[in-house]
Amino acid sequence: MVLSTGINKIKTAVFISGTGSNLKSLIRFSKLKKSPISINLIVTNNKLAKGLKYGSIFKIERKIINFKNNKIAEKKILTELKKNKIDLVCLAGFMKILSNYFIKNFKGKILNIHPSLLPKYKGLNTHQRALKNKDKYSGCTVHFVNSKLDSGKIILQKKVKIFKKDTPTSLAKKVLAQEHKLYSKAILKIFNL
Ligand code: GRF
Repeated sequence: MVLSTGINKIKTAVFISGTGSNLKSLIRFSKLKKSPISINLIVTNNKLAKGLKYGSIFKIERKIINFKNNKIAEKKILTELKKNKIDLVCLAGFMKILSNYFIKNFKGKILNIHPSLLPKYKGLNTHQRALKNKDKYSGCTVHFVNSKLDSGKIILQKKVKIFKKDTPTSLAKKVLAQEHKLYSKAILKIFNL
């Protein structure tokens, strides 16, 4: 594998549903010499996703997929992944749950970033739940995706201290700043770099 030239990097698709700040960090990371990945495709279920703008800014192909019928949507995505020779999928704020069918049919790796210290707080509203339980720490996790929600093997986690004055919004902001660093570190880790 030639990592330094940008040729032969691992072709990666990032799936988003919203702002795409993790997508932006991944794109920045992919441009570094030390990065083993290139971002070749952005997939979204939401045609209004703000993160789609990074597709035009960085000239990356985008696919907007209608999820009215999950099975048809997943088939379309699998076709796109094949067409673009994608070997790695990074979920980054993607609000659809991928089926077993999809996971089995994509031979590469699927990663996800989640805004909690898994296995705590799988699913939504992680910051509210951490504050309600008066946790001392929250954080974020990058993990492999398996058929159970937010339950695949953990690759890396980063702790964030919770202060008394924190609100769901302030905590989300602090955690998100760490997410932006953690995703690329996790990718380096899985490729033993
Ligand atoms: C992040 O907190 C991510 O962990 C969660 O959704 C948020 C997405 O943010 N799954 P962004 O779209 O990457 O800005």
